[in-house]
Amino acid sequence: MPLLSVNVDHVATLRQARLGQEPDPVLGAHEAELGGASGIIVHLREDRRHIQDRDVEILRRTVNTRLNLEMAATREMQQIALAVGPDTVCLVPEKRQELTTEGGLNCLGREGELSAFLAPLLEREIQASLFIDADLDQIDAASQTGAQFIELHTGHYADARTPAERQAELDKILAGIRHAQGLGLKVNLGHGLNYVNVLPFARVPGIHEYSIGHSIMARAIYTGLRQATRDMVDILRGFAD
Ligand code: PXP
Repeated sequence: MPLLSVNVDHVATLRQARLGQEPDPVLGAHEAELGGASGIIVHLREDRRHIQDRDVEILRRTVNTRLNLEMAATREMQQIALAVGPDTVCLVPEKRQELTTEGGLNCLGREGELSAFLAPLLEREIQASLFIDADLDQIDAASQTGAQFIELHTGHYADARTPAERQAELDKILAGIRHAQGLGLKVNLGHGLNYVNVLPFARVPGIHEYSIGHSIMARAIYTGLRQATRDMVDILRGFAD
């Protein structure tokens, strides 16, 4: 069965709206775990718009499953990751003005730079993932960096406006999954996935993990986070052969 990691950034977004103490993403992570999440994801952004350093530090001590730190490939974030020691880091591109991560990381021509960036993290036994578009050249480049995982960007698929466009985006992702698996990379998927658009992946073998935030948090407003997580886990459980 593929794994589900829940992104709890939005819990912190709500807290930061009042710059107060609640709701706390640490408690959100606990609820997601009780709902069956196999991992917790937080994106510590340069501008600290949602997750704070304190969240990452406490989560490292309280997460019972796996902690995945999403971050830009900056020296500041590398130092934080080395100090905190998440189970996995996922490198993402980051722009200050964006509402959320807009596209995949560019790995082309940056294989050496990214390998050097990841080397100390890998040495500390932190696993590495690169969030990239389902582009075969990007996947080839990612495979040269030492990262064990890629996370294929499903946002274009999720945002597609017509069935034909959606099918074309799905086909690109499926081709990307096969290509990456052939190179020995483990494949995660994430961005824009919800309780409906995740279904076409049910028959695709070998997807390691789904990284989902927004749709689970949106449902959690009505059902609670534990139940919203459980609902997604139940869907993914149906993906098991
Ligand atoms: N994967 C990455 C790399 C992301 O940046 C995000 C958004 O923070 C997600 C997955 C989760 O996307 P969503 O919130 O749309 O489920």
